[in-house]
Formats: sequence, C-alpha cells, structure tokens
Amino acid sequence: MVEVLDRLLATRSAARAARRRRVPAVSALDAGRLVLGVLVPVAARGAIVRRPRLEAAAARLDLDARAVRTVTRLRERHGPDPVHLRLPGRSFVVPVEPGDVRRVLDGAPEPFSPASPEKRGALAHFQPRGVLISSPRNRRERRPFNESVLDAGQPLHHLAGPFAAVVAQEAEQLAEQARAEGALSWSLLSRAWWRSVRRVTLGEAARDDEQVTDDLLALRRRANWSGLAPVDHRRRERFLGRVGEYVDAAEPGSLASLVAGTPARPGVAPHEQVPQWLFAFDAAAWASSRALDLLAAHPDAARRVREEAPAPSTDPAAPVARRPVLRSVVLESLRLWPTTPAVLRQTTATTAWRTGELPERTGVLVFAPFFHRDPSRLAQAHRLAPELWLDADGQEDPSGATDWPLVPFSAGPGMCPGRGVVLLTTSTLLASLAQGEWRPERPRLSAERPLPGSLDPFALRLLPA
Ligand code: HEM
Repeated sequence: MVEVLDRLLATRSAARAARRRRVPAVSALDAGRLVLGVLVPVAARGAIVRRPRLEAAAARLDLDARAVRTVTRLRERHGPDPVHLRLPGRSFVVPVEPGDVRRVLDGAPEPFSPASPEKRGALAHFQPRGVLISSPRNRRERRPFNESVLDAGQPLHHLAGPFAAVVAQEAEQLAEQARAEGALSWSLLSRAWWRSVRRVTLGEAARDDEQVTDDLLALRRRANWSGLAPVDHRRRERFLGRVGEYVDAAEPGSLASLVAGTPARPGVAPHEQVPQWLFAFDAAAWASSRALDLLAAHPDAARRVREEAPAPSTDPAAPVARRPVLRSVVLESLRLWPTTPAVLRQTTATTAWRTGELPERTGVLVFAPFFHRDPSRLAQAHRLAPELWLDADGQEDPSGATDWPLVPFSAGPGMCPGRGVVLLTTSTLLASLAQGEWRPERPRLSAERPLPGSLDPFALRLLPA
C-alpha cells in the first residue's frame, strides 16, 4: 500500500516538474489575439481551397498585414522563444526566430512530423496515401518516388520541353480569348491553367476532362473542414480511379507516364501521389495571377522579363529557356503572398527550447508571412525584389536556399518537390502572356507604394494595352 502511494506521489511530482520545465504559455488575452488574428483568418479563407468571397474580404481588410503585426507584437512581448498557445485539447507553438524555423523544418519527419492531425484530417479527403500525411516509415518510400517523378532539385525537369509546349499553347489561346473578350480575367486564366495542368499531369486525353478536377474540387471543399466533414468515399473512389486510369494509359510526355514507369517500392501507392500535385497546381495559378498584377505595376521588371529570353515555343522539341528573372518574380509573388501561409508540423518527442520543453504531440505553426514581411530584418519586405532569389551573376539558386527563412515552398526534408515544375510552368505561362502588354483595369499595386499584405488573386482583370 505504502509502495503504491510512493509511486503515485513520485509520478505526480515528475509530472509537476515536467510542467515547470514547459515553455510558458501566453496569457488568455494573447491566445485570443493569436487565434482571432492569425488562425481564424487562415482557416476561414480555406486552407485547402480558397473561398473567393472571404479572400476578397481579407484583401479589403488587409488581414495578412494585421496578422504579421499581431505576431510581431507577441515576439516583442515574449522574446525569441516560440509563442506557446494552449487551447482546450491542443497545444501549438509559433516560432518567431529564423533559427527555430530552420530547426523545425530541417527536423522532418522526426521530431517535427509534417503529418499534423489537422493536415491528416484535411488531406485524407482526397489523398489518403499521399506523402505529406504519411507515417515516417511510408514517407521513406513515398518521398523518393515523388522526388524522382518530379525531378526535384534539378535545374529543369527532363520533360521540360513537352511541359512548356503545352503551357505555351494554352497561353496563346488564352491571350487570344482575353483580347477577344476585352480583358484577361481570373476565370479565363484559371480555365486555361487547368487545361494545362491536366495535360501536363495526366496527359493529352485529359485536356477537357473537367470531371476529374471538379471531383477534386468538391473533395477539397470538404477538406477545408478537415476531420469535421465526413469523407465522400464514393466521389473519392471515382476520382482516384480516374487518376489511376490516366496512369495506366501512361501518355508519353506527361507526369502520369513517369508515375507508370518509375520503380516503386511496396507501400508507395504510386497513382495516389498524383492528387497532391493536381491540388497544389491551383496555388501556382494564384501565384501567377498575382505575378501578372506585379508585372503590370512594375514596367521595369516586365521589360527585363521580355528581354531575358525569347517567347516560349509551342514545339515540344524546342530548347527551354531558364528565365531566372521571371522565375524570381514568381518567387516574389509567393514571398509577398505565400499560398501556404501556415506550414504545420507536429512534434513526435519532447523538444527543448530556450525557456523550457514542449511535450510530444505539440503542434508547430510556421507562419510564413511573418518572416517574409519583416522590415526589421528584410529591407525589401514590402516591395518587389527579384534580386532576393538571384546570385551575383543573376542566376537562380535551384535549391531555393536563402540566408533568411523565405519558405514559400517550405524547406528541409519536407520541402516541396514540385518547386521546379511549378517555376517552369508558371514562368512559361507568364512569359507567353508578357509578349503582349497588359494594364490593370483598376490598379491595385504601385511600384511607388509598399505592397499590400493581402492580394485577392480572383480579382485579376487586365486590359490589353
Ligand atoms: C505555387 C505552387 C506550390 C507551392 C507554393 C507549394 C508549396 C509547398 C509547401 C509549402 C509544401 C510543404 C507543405 C507542408 O509541409 O505542410 C509542399 C509540399 C509538397 N508539394 Fe508543393 N507547392 C506548390 C505546387 C506543387 C506542385 C505543382 C507539385 C507537384 C507537381 C507539388 C508537390 C508537392 C508534394 C509532393 C509535397 C509533399 C512533400 C512532402 O511531404 O515531403 N507542389 N508544397
């Protein structure tokens, strides 16, 4: 009896000591500021697919600039350790020092796992066996497969010729249509983009298969609610089945052909890696829309882009130009308005910080806009600065490394393996469109003023000059 009591007391005092060693949590008032100022706006606008009305409201209220100010004030009040937010049933930290961001992102998948419960709940709606929500064991097989198909880290994908030709063909048609209708709008841009994405990813036969991407869209709408919405199993089966058929058809020149032809270890689930790519190409359209607005407001940058290389060719056998300036403009669009503003991780073990420890299963939220838009550390925070991504010879570092944690594609072992494909396809689209001159119907950006914290990509409307 005495022994049991002793053991109980020892356990309780160990638990008390662990709590004492814990990174202190912020007050209820600061927790409220973080939830309302940062978490709610990110979730309400739609983490997996954006809700256009809320995106417009966010731009009107410049919510991202407000969110950055909220985190800045918390850093000033609480110092360099991650801001620790304790909610009922869930504990989160928000790193505020670049070194901590590096440590967290470099520490994937253990002790900082990309497969956070929020992400698992969301992505299971359309990619239950995707790499991003995989266990460390499955990740070991699925990550190399993704890297191999997407030629991660290579200056240009080995199918760059066919990919660029597809995008250039669709961009030519888009420009013609925009001129005929009198404006280049989001709805024209996005339809042309999805045709390109289906051709590049699934093959020529998928060009007009809107069903497959509409199914994905419906599943993504549910995914915005993460685990709160039930999975639509019927639609998910139909969607994954259709993707599987395109992989089996393995049309030459498509990513699907590479999925079919790349050796996969057991547990990879090759065709189930594709939904993440289709889904993530949407963010590339948002980034392109904003880059078009940036170029329209910065004639010098637009001129440099036109001069750096000839127009993209519609011939798949033609050589593909690198376009470092234009790629940097896309990177700037993603720095200024990151399409993944909250990069989530989940600790898999106790982690030590300056002011204490954090237990296993603590969420970590890297809030990219805070680092991308910090004028105290980055002089160019609020203006277009392609030079941030170029070396002294005007060349781009293909690894995406910078001194400052500019992490639009995340970083470390969980970094986006599609970065190269994204920069190739978006820069081809923009280079084709940049052959004409476009001016905003209502200018939203100016080279003379700091760029806004939020920019609604769905409000794009450019008139042929
Ligand atoms: C503008 C477009 C894109 C941006 C900004 C972007 C950014 C990101 C970010 C931030 C992550 C890490 C997410 C996290 O840790 O929670 C990620 C992961 C990933 N992205 Fe992208 N992405 C884009 C497009 C693409 C495309 C087009 C593809 C494929 C063709 C792709 C493939 C992937 C894959 C497979 C992962 C999971 C990597 C892993 O878990 O190891 N992405 N992306």
